[in-house]
Amino acid sequence: MSQSASSPDAPSRNGAPRYIAHRGLSAQAPENTLAAVRAAHAAGCDWVELDVQLLGDATPVLWHDAGLKRCSDGRGKLLNLDAPRAAQLDVGAWFSEAFRGERMATLEQMLALIVELDMGLNLELKVCRGRNPIELARTALPPVLEALPPERLIVSSFDRHALTAARALEPDADRLRLGVLDDKAPKLWWRETERLSAYSLHLDWRKLKVKRAHEIVDEAVKLFCYTANDPGPFDKLWDWGVDGVISDDPTRFVVHAARAPTAKDRE
Ligand code: G3P
Ligand code: MG
Repeated sequence: MSQSASSPDAPSRNGAPRYIAHRGLSAQAPENTLAAVRAAHAAGCDWVELDVQLLGDATPVLWHDAGLKRCSDGRGKLLNLDAPRAAQLDVGAWFSEAFRGERMATLEQMLALIVELDMGLNLELKVCRGRNPIELARTALPPVLEALPPERLIVSSFDRHALTAARALEPDADRLRLGVLDDKAPKLWWRETERLSAYSLHLDWRKLKVKRAHEIVDEAVKLFCYTANDPGPFDKLWDWGVDGVISDDPTRFVVHAARAPTAKDRE
């Protein structure tokens, strides 16, 4: 969140983001759209998490699912779509009438908006079943690295091949911050973060245990948790040293912190 009067925390530009709007402000606008990013910005969020995939013609777009049905008026698979056909879909009306006419965002359009709004981006390389992780990383990453400075970018993925390809594209860990996504950290979690020179681990907040959180924080690996929407039960995770929360509505966390600040809020 920005350091406005409505925002009690002091998140860093150079350090880890504390609040990241999941798929944009997806509680208030259709996920992964330009509208969701504008909504996040309007609500005071500095950072958004977005999912990138390739259309069948290799155009990178922001989209979460393998299919079109849940979040558009189209049917079938993203893989079977090219850019002109993707541009005809309505990706807003499923969420609410107010967003009818919203179009699927290309990565190019999204990067232009994020640059314009001076926001940070946690870009998830989303590898759906049967898709090529290396093609995704090699296609999507170069324009992202071109558009955003290192301190405003974290590239994450559940897919280790995608992360490996991303690191090969930019071996300098200071120039590309990688995030290892998992539902819960394996016992030897550090093997992957070391191999990839990763900046962060991104874990399911419900599965995180205090011991593991302390190990990660003690190793100075940043720790982000997804997807939390109720700030009360998350208080203990702040106390464990979690750096940031990925939430469909980070404003709930800001309001909660203003009422009952945790030790981390007061830092
Ligand atoms: O990056 C955190 C979160 O987005 C991972 O899960 O399925 O919402 O992309 P998903
Ligand atoms: Mg995601």
